[in-house]
Amino acid sequence: MADLKKDSIFLKNLRGEACDRTPIWIMRQAGRYLPEYQEVRAKMSFNELCRTPETACEVTLQPIRRFGFDAAIMFSDILTPLEAMGAGFDFSQGGPKLEKPVRTEDEINALHTYEPLEGTGFVADAIKLMKEGLGDKTPLIGFAGSPFTLATYLIEGGGSKDFATLKAMLYSRPELLDRLMAKLTDQTLAYLRMQAEAGVDAIQLFDTWGGILHPADYVKVVLPCVKKIMDGLKDTGIPRIYFLKGSAPYNHIIKDLDIEAFGVDWTQDLSRAIDRMGGKAVQGNLDPHALFGTHDQIKDRALEICRKGSAASGHVFNLGHGITPPTPIAAVETLVETVQNFRR
Ligand code: CP3
Repeated sequence: MADLKKDSIFLKNLRGEACDRTPIWIMRQAGRYLPEYQEVRAKMSFNELCRTPETACEVTLQPIRRFGFDAAIMFSDILTPLEAMGAGFDFSQGGPKLEKPVRTEDEINALHTYEPLEGTGFVADAIKLMKEGLGDKTPLIGFAGSPFTLATYLIEGGGSKDFATLKAMLYSRPELLDRLMAKLTDQTLAYLRMQAEAGVDAIQLFDTWGGILHPADYVKVVLPCVKKIMDGLKDTGIPRIYFLKGSAPYNHIIKDLDIEAFGVDWTQDLSRAIDRMGGKAVQGNLDPHALFGTHDQIKDRALEICRKGSAASGHVFNLGHGITPPTPIAAVETLVETVQNFRR
């Protein structure tokens, strides 16, 4: 059973093994653009959906059944594990909201560390169901938010436009931010190790907001935490993907991370990213909004990315960020068909 998955084009591309076809999955592939997701979601809250292994499994499988993506990503959220630290988010008002932001020394100290199987055992249970449901061909991706991206939500108490509170802390109380980052780093590493033990075939670290800092601050604050997590997962043997949104100014800084692949957003030409990423596999990088173009435009853009990706040691097709809820289903069908019919 394990061997068929090992030979999947998704894992082969991540390992940089020769392959004639480009695999595709898309960030947020299970979600609100799918009517079958909306149907499940109408019956329960987002938090409940994430915490119930059977429904998390069902919505993980939905986009695989509909589109035949080359990999599944477990359904959860980067903020879900924070509840076990005492920072539960409410998603019912649109964006995530934390009852009380985490800003002072006492508030940071009050965040609990926890045993992953105790605090987030429902994720391990869901992974087991997902693996059964996926069978022996489609690999399953596990994930977590990077400590910095998690810290933005904790400090700001939700989403932010300018991250003013976090940045004020970075410049006025850097030791506080360091303490929060250290706690989140250890917890995230333990959480991802639990996912690896439960059987995910690859992991992705989502760093949606790591790109908001001056490169020197990124090096000081973010990079050591990402490195500690990725290095701490090496012995699991599963491929590690780092998606840093807005990574173009940081290519030279992150290229030496000991990982298998980098996610690339749409603001950078894929060929440029490949040149600068030190021979690693790349994942990306169609603008999610390109899916609102005509079918011919979608095909042209997708093929251009496939051709450019062929120059890398491995290329996994993806969007440069998550798919948006109003995206037409037919556009996703065109995209998947185009990428899966492309031959290098
Ligand atoms: O990719 C997948 O299909 C797996 C599931 C997944 C979700 N969120 C489901 C979700 C993954 C991998 C995430 C990651 C995530 N969550 C990130 C990193 C990647 C990125 O998109 O930048 C971030 C920053 C979050 C935090 C988050 N979760 C926000 C800001 C929001 C609200 C805005 C929004 O997009 O809805 C969420 C909610 C969320 N996460 C939904 C889904 C399907 C919508 C919830 C609903 O059904 O109402």
